[in-house]
Amino acid sequence: MSTRRDYSPMTYSHSQGDAFPEDGLVLGIESSCDEMAAAVLRGGREIVSSSVHGQESVHSPYGGVVPELASRDHVRVVSNVVSAALSEAGLGLSDLDGLAVTAGPGLVGSLLVGLSFAKALAYANDLPFVGVHHLVGHLVAAEVAGKGDGDVAGDDLAPPYVGLVVSGGHTALYRVGVEGLPVLLGETRDDAAGEAFDKVAKLLGLPYPGGPAISKLAEQGDPTAVNFPRPMSKRPGFDFSYSGLKTAVSVELAKRGGLAALSPSERADMAASFEAAVAESLVGRASRAMRAEGAARIAVVGGVAANGRLRKEMHAAGARDGFEAIFPPMNLCTDNAVMIAAAGTRLLSRGVRDGLDLEAFSRVPIGESPWREQEKGRESGAGQEPVGATS
Ligand code: KG4
Ligand code: ZN
Repeated sequence: MSTRRDYSPMTYSHSQGDAFPEDGLVLGIESSCDEMAAAVLRGGREIVSSSVHGQESVHSPYGGVVPELASRDHVRVVSNVVSAALSEAGLGLSDLDGLAVTAGPGLVGSLLVGLSFAKALAYANDLPFVGVHHLVGHLVAAEVAGKGDGDVAGDDLAPPYVGLVVSGGHTALYRVGVEGLPVLLGETRDDAAGEAFDKVAKLLGLPYPGGPAISKLAEQGDPTAVNFPRPMSKRPGFDFSYSGLKTAVSVELAKRGGLAALSPSERADMAASFEAAVAESLVGRASRAMRAEGAARIAVVGGVAANGRLRKEMHAAGARDGFEAIFPPMNLCTDNAVMIAAAGTRLLSRGVRDGLDLEAFSRVPIGESPWREQEKGRESGAGQEPVGATS
């Protein structure tokens, strides 16, 4: 992702709040892309309820998210999704101790729906309120309790650790320290890994979202059938790149006479070989970061962290190189509001409170929450030691 900013250098009001109860109930709201989600969390780790409304059927005909349609659908469902989370929790608004909402990055029209709704709720119910960075939410998802699918150790995960965010919009490695915001170690120079899954799915005639569709087809294919490039594997540093891999799939397809000329097993082989290339490149870059940081644990988060091959290969690399790979349960990998409530609780507990003049931000690096300018020194993570130095 580029670091182009979409905000003016104005300042936003915020304050230092009172002590926040240790077992505080926080309502989280997430609407940065094509999921409208609400969740209630107790004490920052215990999931009381979670409601997610997806939009696959809205965007599937277009092979990707159409921003205008996403925000219109959010307006339609926001009230119902929040009500569902509260009623599943058996709680009313007056039972809540705080409110957290995604402020960016994401599609601005989508963000504004959740943000405006959350601001209205906070104002009407006089609730402490914070804006959360979407990627901080993804990272914190690995710290939330819930042994969902057998390979989750989130119960006892706490910083320091290395975080690998692999979603539809981002592919980046962070150093997550005990204090301050996560520090960027490396990121994709072009497409995100999830974006590559979605684009290659389209090339292979599969529906959106492409990740689960490719993954399913890949089960029947041979991952060694086509030797696609492993992007950046020979380059130093921790950056990623996926647009060349997408082009390689497209060139291979053309060489074989196009999609229509492929047999079902050849199509499955292409899917499996592409998935293997993405997984190997992610694991390679992550292992390199673990060595450089001397870190013991890596949290792999975001939609692509739901990928079975990536999970298996990252665990295998950990067993080989001596680190532990931690994945959130599947439902906390893709966009959800539990992660926003969790990240919000951590801010509220530190006394952070945002004002109702908070805006939505489409592009904003983790190290810069422009809506909390005064905290930058404390949150920037500047001068943090590598993870291994404190673990
Ligand atoms: O984190 P997320 O729900 O939304 C963003 O913040 O972008 O990630 C969505 C991305 C999509 O690109 C989707 O194709 C990908 O995650 N994804 C997967 C899998 N499930 C979702 N990619 C590979 N394998 C999966 N099983
Ligand atoms: Zn996301």
